[in-house]
Amino acid sequence: MAESTPRNWAAADQYLADTLVGEDPALAAALTAQRAAGLPDIEVAPVGGKLLNLIARMSGARRVLEIGTLGGYSTIWLARAVGEDGQVVSIEAEPDNAAVARASIDAAGVGDRVAIRIGRAADVLPTLDGSPPFDLVFIDADKESNTVYLDWAARLGRSGTVIVLDNIGREGEIVNADTDDPRVVGTREGLQMLGEDPRFDATALQTIGIKGWDGVALALVL
Ligand code: DHB
Ligand code: MG
Repeated sequence: MAESTPRNWAAADQYLADTLVGEDPALAAALTAQRAAGLPDIEVAPVGGKLLNLIARMSGARRVLEIGTLGGYSTIWLARAVGEDGQVVSIEAEPDNAAVARASIDAAGVGDRVAIRIGRAADVLPTLDGSPPFDLVFIDADKESNTVYLDWAARLGRSGTVIVLDNIGREGEIVNADTDDPRVVGTREGLQMLGEDPRFDATALQTIGIKGWDGVALALVL
């Protein structure tokens, strides 16, 4: 039996990506542009991007909200899922990141369905109030604000809206009672909210692979 090591997790993840995701020139170009611009390598893994795409298609999502654009990698996966008449609104705090994302999203041929809103999500989200409800919300930004983002996801959604919350495992740090890392504290507060707030029904899965040991929460807005 194979040893459980980070190298083996990554190799198995790469095998899954090769087998089930395959080569994708537009996404590869987006990652190349992101790296060239010096953005951190913290986008979702290929299998995670495709998971987002499949969840969006399985739930028939036409309006998607993304919190945390980074270089547009996950945005492209989501934009492909909503179809020609769909829309993705993606919020990014860093204007430089948004410029990289904009170019990659346009080059991927889905620019007309993606609106990037530049600013702190806590400031941008209230401006979306009154727009038609979002069918799917992907939260992948500063973990300290997860409860704020979950609250807005419920308010900007409807009964049946799907929420995907990234990075809920954090190498198991979520059970480290002694940590004062605000990202871990924020992650835990978000999970607690998903467990207790009557607006949500949720679960979470740990993931392991080329992005290390982490995880993703899935919630339904009731
Ligand atoms: C971090 C953020 C992410 O969204 C991610 O997927 C991985 C790491 C981070 O801030 O460390
Ligand atoms: Mg993430």
